[in-house]
Amino acid sequence: MAAPVEIHQLGDHVGESVSISGWVETTRGHGKVAFAVIRDGTGIVQCVFLKKALPEEVWSAFETLTQESTVTVTGEVKADDRAPGGFELGISHLEVLHIAEEYPIQPKEHGVEFLLDHRHLWLRSSQQRAGLRVRNELTKAIADFFYDRDFTRIDTPILTGSIGEHAGTLFQTDYFGENAYLAQTGQLYVETACPAFRKVYCFGPTFRAEKSKTRRHLTEFWMLEPEVAFADSDENMRLQEELVSYLVERALENCTEELKVLERDTSKLEHIKPSFPRISYTDAVAELKGKGSEIEWGQDLGATDEAILMEDRDLPLFVHDYPKQAKAFYMKENPEDTRTVKCDDLLAPEGYGEIIGGSQREDDMGKLLERIREEKLPEEAYSWYLDLRRYGSFVHSGFGLGLERTCAWITGRHHIREFIPFPRLMNRLNP
Ligand code: 4AD
Ligand code: MG
Repeated sequence: MAAPVEIHQLGDHVGESVSISGWVETTRGHGKVAFAVIRDGTGIVQCVFLKKALPEEVWSAFETLTQESTVTVTGEVKADDRAPGGFELGISHLEVLHIAEEYPIQPKEHGVEFLLDHRHLWLRSSQQRAGLRVRNELTKAIADFFYDRDFTRIDTPILTGSIGEHAGTLFQTDYFGENAYLAQTGQLYVETACPAFRKVYCFGPTFRAEKSKTRRHLTEFWMLEPEVAFADSDENMRLQEELVSYLVERALENCTEELKVLERDTSKLEHIKPSFPRISYTDAVAELKGKGSEIEWGQDLGATDEAILMEDRDLPLFVHDYPKQAKAFYMKENPEDTRTVKCDDLLAPEGYGEIIGGSQREDDMGKLLERIREEKLPEEAYSWYLDLRRYGSFVHSGFGLGLERTCAWITGRHHIREFIPFPRLMNRLNP
């Protein structure tokens, strides 16, 4: 009996007979010798069928195989650098578990809408697998980074009664006769967990009813949000550059194959190490105007402005201390210039734009209330949040890193929709 193994373990079984269960990616050849590439979810392996060495029924079973049919193959493992995956199986037996119907995704160019309609199948394609493996690595890296620094993970609610960011991009639903929103952020909740745990983070899906169809907007995306007691804006940026450098390092270390499949030029990543340059919003606006942008002081930076700023920069860039009016209500007023707030956006190089938004939080009760009123937010819904400024107020800061945007930049792919298994876009709720 050949031992059942997974393809990624083949290196430990050279010379042995093993069996592998998986799906047929391609078949070719006829006459005397034929090949099938099998995928089992851990890798791919080339199977070699020699007609004269095989019982008649195995050869005829091979001939029935279609793309994505399910099989269990048995054979001897040979190392072969030329084979996809580095190993070959010299087949002695083939069990057909299911013959697949004609598979919609063929090895040719398909339109993006077609691929998104078939996302549940598109997941099986090599570049999609590679992208989601990078996501998986970054998810684990995030957990390791914060665990090693004594942070406590606090899972925050997805259904909430308080608006976390802007009233403009809320998904609203009925909650037993009350208004509920899908969380735009877990921030307000992690803030309140600081006095209990000091250094905390949440990491989960967040929702924005973004009416923009761009390569960097999803309506459901995953955000990592650390929050640290007694950290100011400066320390906040230091944590961000350490985290981002660590994520790049982990991808370079553990996703070599995936980055190859995605054709990433990794020389663009190797120098991503602390510290990252910083520029104030005010200086950024001056630089942009010098480069022909029509931005006026007070406006948030658009994607084009971010791209212009990053043109000659190959490290991520912090843009800090934005105008109050361009940012959310909870940000700390800058004592040195009260028109601005102590915040930062971290812009990734190569045109990827903002991957992090962070800030020191307003810890002054009066100022926070004033901002809530200015923004016409429903004051009652924030009474629990204001308690943090009633009972032991403290300097604290945090940030939000968009997982899919970070994946897109690290892998050098154009669109962030490839980095969430089932993307939710303005025009897409299925599959
Ligand atoms: O800048 P944002 O809106 O910040 C917050 O939500 C804060 N509450 C975070 C915090 O301080 N705890 O979003 C943070 C990041 C962005 O930099 C971006 O990477 C990502 O979340 N993001 C999106 N990613 C994909 N699709 C969207 N529609 C996104 N909106 C924001
Ligand atoms: Mg932002």
